[in-house]
Amino acid sequence: MTDMAKLTLGGAEIDLPVRKGSVGPDVIDIRKLYGQTGAFTYDPGFTSTASCESGLTYIDGDQGILLHRGYPIDQLAEKSSFMEVCYLLLNGELPKKDELDKFTYTITRHTMLHEQLATFYRGFRRDAHPMAVMCGVVGALSAFYHDSTDITDPHQRMVASHRLIAKMPTIAAMAYKYSVGQPFLYPDNSLSYSGNFLRMTFGVPAEPYQVDPVVEAAMDKIFILHADHEQNASTSTVRLAGSSGANPFACIAAGIACLWGPAHGGANEAALNMLREIGRPEKIPEYIARAKDKNDPFRLMGFGHRVYKNYDPRAKVMQKTANEVLEKLGVTDPIFDVARELEQIALKDDYFVEKKLYPNVDFYSGVILSAIGFPTSMFTALFALARTVGWVAQWNEMISDPEQKIGRPRQLYTGPSQRDYVPLDQR
Ligand code: CMC
Repeated sequence: MTDMAKLTLGGAEIDLPVRKGSVGPDVIDIRKLYGQTGAFTYDPGFTSTASCESGLTYIDGDQGILLHRGYPIDQLAEKSSFMEVCYLLLNGELPKKDELDKFTYTITRHTMLHEQLATFYRGFRRDAHPMAVMCGVVGALSAFYHDSTDITDPHQRMVASHRLIAKMPTIAAMAYKYSVGQPFLYPDNSLSYSGNFLRMTFGVPAEPYQVDPVVEAAMDKIFILHADHEQNASTSTVRLAGSSGANPFACIAAGIACLWGPAHGGANEAALNMLREIGRPEKIPEYIARAKDKNDPFRLMGFGHRVYKNYDPRAKVMQKTANEVLEKLGVTDPIFDVARELEQIALKDDYFVEKKLYPNVDFYSGVILSAIGFPTSMFTALFALARTVGWVAQWNEMISDPEQKIGRPRQLYTGPSQRDYVPLDQR
């Protein structure tokens, strides 16, 4: 029997069905609320609202747990590959060997971009932010790949999904190449997903490029850690854009735009810039004091999360990977010392303890990306590249859901009530 929640409003009592997930909090189904009572619910920022039903990713923010299709993120990061995780997110199960080979082959065959897309880049200033370029170029894909924009056809949806996953490294690497004035490199399909991306970013046509296996493995892990994250702001943006029937390339461009903000994916860039600004451990107390000061808009970037009220499990893996990469590459970066010290101080500080503010995925990712050689402006572009699989998997799930409707929130209106127009000469 369905559990019911009771709501008393204006003297009347209404029963609302309670739905149960496989794990996690129950949800109160309020879809009939407006019809029955004429009232809306009010929840700006969706702090207590489940916007959809999903079988992809689960987060327990109090315990610091993140599962993709049931598998813990640390196990996936340690034991699987980004291609496996992509398959898992899109198809629901880990691939068998032949399924993984076929999937990898398919993705590899979609890595090239339509040649004309290269001319788009030349329309941007050289100092354009890579995220500005990514928004534009990804949105423009819909003008080139008409045979995968019919969202009612599951095959076309999957082709579009494969194209997006495959082309993002090419698009991001070209954004980097354009910014440094070097020639674009075509993909090399004999390399792994991460190896190919590294070569397109750091290789030059004049010399052969050797992929460093340490960097390749770290890159793959970073991609896994960013692959999906439940109904975050950019994923919700993709779903909302997709709910109107917009084509997948346009929806992902919308997701990229949302991800860019410093409260979301832009935090990795902001976190590294902050660590550089702090510069040395002695200056940490000054920045901690600023973060705690209500009159100062400064926040510790890479700290805090809407859902995690415990250590972000991705940050744990990221910190370990940062240790490994810096050690194996022989890089000594004082920024890493500042990060570790800042974390230790913040974790003991009453303000951060009381508000349950812990390092998130963006706190250590910048340290690794910087050691690999990426400029800070590329950090969020890498996040977008990796999150594309989550976006397309969530988008596919939404389109396949028979209960799916156009997303159309309502509001609490506080503007003027109806009044008559006043002619210009009488105002
Ligand atoms: N530094 C200092 N104080 C903070 C911080 C921080 N990083 N984060 C939250 N707080 C305080 C905030 O001032 C508020 O205090 P009070 O209750 O006294 O007003 C309280 O903690 C709750 O913060 P909130 O802004 O209401 O919480 P939220 O759930 O709306 O925001 C957040 C979550 C991630 C936007 C926020 O923690 C933040 O701005 N963090 C820094 C940016 C960041 O690292 N973002 C990356 C998130 S993880 C990757 C991703 O998903 O993209």
